[in-house]
Amino acid sequence: MRTRLIAGNWKMHKTATEAVEFVYEFRKVVPISPTIDILLAPPFVSLYAVQQAMTTDDRFALAAQNLHWEAEGAFTGEISGAMLQALGCSSVIVGHSERRQLFSESNEEVNKKVKAALKHKLLPIVCVGETLEEREAGHTQAIVKDQLIKGLSGLDVENISTITIAYEPVWAIGTGRAATVEQAEEVHAFLRSIVTSEWGSVAQDVRIVYGGSVSPQNAEALFHCTDIDGALVGKACLDPTSFASICRLAAQASY
Ligand code: PGA
Repeated sequence: MRTRLIAGNWKMHKTATEAVEFVYEFRKVVPISPTIDILLAPPFVSLYAVQQAMTTDDRFALAAQNLHWEAEGAFTGEISGAMLQALGCSSVIVGHSERRQLFSESNEEVNKKVKAALKHKLLPIVCVGETLEEREAGHTQAIVKDQLIKGLSGLDVENISTITIAYEPVWAIGTGRAATVEQAEEVHAFLRSIVTSEWGSVAQDVRIVYGGSVSPQNAEALFHCTDIDGALVGKACLDPTSFASICRLAAQASY
């Protein structure tokens, strides 16, 4: 059975001092549950401070929001998987739609980043999702399939089993307009069918989480779906209490 994952993508929010304050507050309210994994993904400059503030008892682990595919070199402003691994990150978000749209990240670059993450023992959370125009034109499945196949190209079954896929419809991110449970479940089931046809039964081990305006109000219904294995949370993860509420709902929900 898959373990649900709740990941908080802080995006470009909070200074290092605020990040540490978050950890202290979150620790007081986070549910103690062996049935879910919880990740905090602060900005690069806060990773060290958060890692230092964490204890071995903490019920959450550290993730980064991006990485470069090379281990080192003349890439001004970039951060490598080797550096993230050395900082204690266990996971990294790859191919978030903001990276794709605002920084022109291609499926080929996503693939290079996924491979670099795996090389450095970072579990990749690979984001896919369609825009509103693409959905309205009936292209959702074609778009997410293309992103998935190209993003995970060349991975073997062993690697695939460690991947988390995040379905994040672009129109639902930061808009307060989450996908309906039916819309999300339909795409999640489709994504799992793609993984099955490409890599076989390992698809049952692959976590597929939903992202896009997840909140304490709408999370419970999402978590009861068979193919929704958790959430990638943006805005609602910035407040320790609301992020803990979402974690609690995931811990309580049955598949
Ligand atoms: P949101 O962001 O929860 O603020 O919509 C989700 C994401 O971008 O991962």
